[in-house]
Amino acid sequence: MIDRQTIDKIFEAARIEEVVGDFVNLKKRGANLLGLCPFHNEKTPSFNVSPARGIYKCFGCGKGGNPVNFIMEHEHLTYPEALRHLARKYSIEIEEKEESPEEIQAHNERESLLLVSAFAQQFFTETLLETEEGKAIGLSYFHERGFTNDIVAKFQLGFSPERRNALVEAATAKGYKPEYLETTGLCIKRDDGGLFDRFAGRVMFPIHNVSGRVIAFGGRTLKTDKKVAKYVNSPESPIYHKSNVLYGIYFAKNKIVSNDNCLLVEGYTDVISMHQAGIENVVASSGTSLTVEQIRLIKRYTKNITILYDGDAAGIKASFRGIDLVLEEGMNVKVVLFPEGDDPDSFSKKVGAEELQEFINKESKDFIGFKTGLLLKETQNDPIAKAGLIREIMETISLIPDAISRNVYTTECSRIMNVDEQLLISELNKTRRKNFTKNLKDEEAQQIPESEATQQQVQPQVEKIEQDCEEQERNIIRLLITFGDKPVMPAKALNEEGEEADIFISVAEFIYHDFTADNLHFDNLLYQLIFNEAVKGIEKGIIPDEKYYVQNPDDRISSFAAGIISSPYLLSPQWLEKHKIQTNLEDAQIPKSVKHAIYSLKIKRLMKKISETEELFATATNEEETIAILEQHKQLLDIKREIATKELGRVVLK
Ligand code: CTP
Ligand code: MN
Repeated sequence: MIDRQTIDKIFEAARIEEVVGDFVNLKKRGANLLGLCPFHNEKTPSFNVSPARGIYKCFGCGKGGNPVNFIMEHEHLTYPEALRHLARKYSIEIEEKEESPEEIQAHNERESLLLVSAFAQQFFTETLLETEEGKAIGLSYFHERGFTNDIVAKFQLGFSPERRNALVEAATAKGYKPEYLETTGLCIKRDDGGLFDRFAGRVMFPIHNVSGRVIAFGGRTLKTDKKVAKYVNSPESPIYHKSNVLYGIYFAKNKIVSNDNCLLVEGYTDVISMHQAGIENVVASSGTSLTVEQIRLIKRYTKNITILYDGDAAGIKASFRGIDLVLEEGMNVKVVLFPEGDDPDSFSKKVGAEELQEFINKESKDFIGFKTGLLLKETQNDPIAKAGLIREIMETISLIPDAISRNVYTTECSRIMNVDEQLLISELNKTRRKNFTKNLKDEEAQQIPESEATQQQVQPQVEKIEQDCEEQERNIIRLLITFGDKPVMPAKALNEEGEEADIFISVAEFIYHDFTADNLHFDNLLYQLIFNEAVKGIEKGIIPDEKYYVQNPDDRISSFAAGIISSPYLLSPQWLEKHKIQTNLEDAQIPKSVKHAIYSLKIKRLMKKISETEELFATATNEEETIAILEQHKQLLDIKREIATKELGRVVLK
C-alpha cells in the first residue's frame, strides 16, 4: 500500500500537461491545451487539457479525469500501478503505508524477485547481442527464423550462455541474493547446495506483466534432439502465476483496445512473428489451455477474442473447452483455423503481412460454424452422432449469459444443422434450468463493479437504479464539487459572546447539514458515494474543495468530478469567453443556486410521493384505507405549500 502522503506528493508533482503530453501531441489554445483524443478515433481535436485544474476532458467521447486516471485509462493500469508509474516519472520515492512484517517481507520479496528478473533479462540480452557466443549461436538462430533486430530488441530476447554458472556468477557478483535466483527459478540448487543456471544454452523469451516488468522466462533449445525439451519455462513463483499470465499482453494491450479485438495464439514465436507482420493485438496462452484468469485479463481490454489454431493442432477438440470458457465470461469468440501444417508464425513468413491479415479476416468463424465445420464430416450419415453434435452446440450456447446472443446463436444453429428452432429453444431452456443455480451465482458475482482503487473494500453498487430525480441530484453534486469550499451567504447568528454576528458556512457544510437534518439521500449511488466522501472530510474538519474530488483515490469519484467541472463550462476555446461569463455569474449566486438546487430535489421527491398516494387512492379497497390515504395526501400537500413559500422549509419524507 502506498501511503496518503506519497499519493499527495505524486498528485502535486504530476502536471497533467506533461503526463498527457507523453502520449498526445498538445497545442496551446488559450489557457488550455488541445489535442487528438487517444481514447477514440477523431480527425479534429476535441481532447482538452486544463493545466490550471489539473484535468483532461474529451468532448468527443466524454472521458476525463486527473493525471492518475489518464495513466490508468491509457496504459490500462490499476490505481496503484498508475501511481507507481507517475512516481517513477517524477522520481518520487514510494513510501509504503505501514505494513505488517509479513506484508513488508512479501512486498520486499516480490520487488527483489522483479529486480533479479530484470537483471537476468539484461544479462541474457547483452549475451545475445554483445558476446561471440551469443551472436554466433543465439542471434544467428533468430535471424535464421526471420526475426529482425528491431523485433529482437522490442521483445528483449536473449541468450543464456552454455556455461552452467554464467548467470549465477554475474548476478551474485552484482549483489543479487542466491535465494532470489532460486525462487524465480532462474537457477536450480544442486544437492551439494551450489546453484546452476536453469536455461543454459537456450535462446530466451522474457515474459512481461501488464506493466512491462519481466516476471518469467521461456527458454528454447537449439538442439534438434527429441529427448531435450523444446521449451523450458520458469516455474511458478510469487511473481509468476502461469495461469494468470498471457505472453505479449504488455505489447498488445493498446492495440487490443483500439482494434476492440484480441487475437490468441499458442506460442511465443507466433506472437513475435505477428508483431513483425504488423499485427499487434495478439497474445499467447503459451501452450497451456486457456484459463478463466487469462480470459478476464483480456476482458479488461476488449470483449472480443479471436482464437487462432494451428492447422495440425491435435488438441483442437480439447480446445473447445476454451471456447466455452470465453462464452461463459460473456465475451464473443471467433475462431481461425490455419492450413494444415502451419501456425501463425510459419504462415506469416510464407505469405507476408497483408495476406496474413486478409486470411484472418476471411477465415474468422463463429464457434458454431467452426464446430460444425470440423465435426459435420464425421457425423454426416449418422443421425445419432448428429444429434450428439447438436446437443453439444446447444450446451455451449446455454453458457452465454446474454439472452439476445443466445437467441441469435440458436437461430444460427437451427439453420446450419437444419433442425426446428422451437425444439432447440426448449432444449436450451432445459439446459439453462439445469445450470440455473450456478449461473445465478456467476451473474451476481459479475454485477458488482469495483473500483480498482478500493478493491478490498465493500463498495455500494454504483448504478443508476432510479432516475426520477437524476437531474436534481446531479445538480446538487455539481455544486458540491465545484463550489464546496465557497461560502454560503452569511447568516446572522449569536456568537459566543451572545452578540449577533455574521456566520459563514461553506457550501459543502450547508448541503451536509441540510441533508442530514432532513434525512435526505441520493438515489444515484455514485452521487451518494461522493456525498459520503464529502461527509467523511467535513467530519474530519476538512472543507472539501474541487481538488478533494478530482484527486480522490477512488477513480469513480475522480473521473466523475473531472467530467462535471469541465462541463457545461467547456474548456474548448470557443467556449472560453462564455465560460468566464457563466462561472462569474454563478459565482455571485452560489448561495441562491445551492438553496434552489436542494429545494428542487425536495419538491421533486414530494411530487413523486403525492402522485404515488393518488395511485394508491385509486386502488384502495375499503373505507379505512381510503381515509388513511386521503389523510396522507393532505399532509403532503401542506408540506408542499409550506416549502413552496419558504423555499427552504424542512421536508420530512417518510
Ligand atoms: N511450450 C512449452 N513447452 C514445450 C513446448 C511448447 O512451454 N515443451 C509452449 C511454449 O510457450 C510455446 C508454445 O507452447 O511457445 C507453443 O508450442 P510450439 O508450437 O511447439 O512452439 P513454438 O512457439 O511454435 O516454437 P517453434 O516455432 O520454435 O517451434
Ligand atoms: Mn512454431
